[in-house]
Amino acid sequence: MPDSVTITDNRTGESVEIPIVDGGVDSEQWRKLLPGIWFYDPAFMTTAATSSGITELDGEAGVLRYKGYPIEQLAEQSTYLEVAYLLINGELPTAEQFDAWKHEITYHTFIHENVRKRFMEGFHYDAHPMGMLVSAVAALSTFYLDAKDIDDREVRDKQIIRLIAKMPTLAACAHRFSVGQPFVYPDNNLDFAANFLSMMWKVAEPQYAANPVLARAIDVLFILHADHEQNCSTTAMRVVGSSHADPYVATAGAAAALYGPRHGGANEAVIRMLTEIGSYENVEPFIDDVKAGKGRLQGFGHRVYKNYDPRAKIIKRVADEVFEVTGKNPLLDIALKLEEVALADEYFTSRRLYPNVDFYSGLIYQAMGFPIDMFPVLFAIPRTSGWLAHWGELLEQGQKIARPRQLYTGPAQRDYVPMGSR
Ligand code: ACO
Repeated sequence: MPDSVTITDNRTGESVEIPIVDGGVDSEQWRKLLPGIWFYDPAFMTTAATSSGITELDGEAGVLRYKGYPIEQLAEQSTYLEVAYLLINGELPTAEQFDAWKHEITYHTFIHENVRKRFMEGFHYDAHPMGMLVSAVAALSTFYLDAKDIDDREVRDKQIIRLIAKMPTLAACAHRFSVGQPFVYPDNNLDFAANFLSMMWKVAEPQYAANPVLARAIDVLFILHADHEQNCSTTAMRVVGSSHADPYVATAGAAAALYGPRHGGANEAVIRMLTEIGSYENVEPFIDDVKAGKGRLQGFGHRVYKNYDPRAKIIKRVADEVFEVTGKNPLLDIALKLEEVALADEYFTSRRLYPNVDFYSGLIYQAMGFPIDMFPVLFAIPRTSGWLAHWGELLEQGQKIARPRQLYTGPAQRDYVPMGSR
């Protein structure tokens, strides 16, 4: 049997045989056979918008690998900064390469005083930190004019370092502003996660000493969230990047996509849902409501995973370690019961709906003291390395500007009617 598909245009009897390569068929042959006939695929359900060598995801088998390394091994043995290096550069760093990378990131964590004083402090007192982050990242584009030179690899690398390094600073700054606390400058003696926690929680102590279990938990969560192939926000990054916009505005576009409740906002929605359910006895009636179409079980289901999200398994373990330190999040029992009831229910099993990464991540963040509004911000910090890895790959591939077609279904041509005659 040939590894190919044959498409026949029944109007003309003409056919084309297209080989299946890397699990896909090239649309160019389709275009040649059927000029002006578009492949109708809203929400990219069946479209591979690119080839990519960064993250491998097998949703049927519940497999996630960055550059070939299983997520379980990275979460167990690596650090977020090492994973960020891997995503951006394609290989794990040597000790020397890692030292240089860590140094570069550490020494780019400061933000221009104007970003903080004039820009961030200009927001309304109750501004959502994710809205602040999206805007602040876009605003960085106006501070680094060299960033427009996207054809220069060295210039690109510089912006990548700046973005990965400054995200935690902007994130913490947005939080401190929203709770009326003074900004905390980055501490170059701390590692990535501990420095972020310092900028979040430091009060008057000379140096903030993060609990090592919590700092490691944040680092593992950052590893788990660093990349996830062609998800909604990464696609936004690639689409904006394909117009050759600078990486700051492209990252802002990606972060904006992440903000939505169907994507990075889901862990916020999980906590709101668990709070609304309120107690153990309300779990089954809630599930009945979901099955009756009255809302969704937040943190369940995934476009790609039709099996347990491998990240959710790791997060469950991290949650136990965090709760040892913080005390158990009272919503955990409701979450566990929800998972048990849903996974025993035909509605969820037949649709292959399993917990995704967001089902438990919010419980950890909440137990660590992060306000719910900060959850999507916590997601954006590590995903920045994934977005930038895809941005670099897109430019290396020399991909054309993203420009899908449409099937026009509006009115046919008609004549303008003056307002008085309508
Ligand atoms: N609760 C109840 N039913 C669901 C859920 C859910 N969470 N998710 C999907 N379904 C049902 C749908 O109603 C549909 O049923 P039907 O065939 O009877 O109409 C079926 O399962 C397929 O659902 P779709 O919406 O077509 O699946 P899609 O791939 O478009 O959506 C999504 C994926 C958006 C993640 C969806 O599962 C969802 O809304 N989940 C809740 C929000 C969430 O947890 N998002 C986080 C995703 S992970 C991330 O971004 C990091």
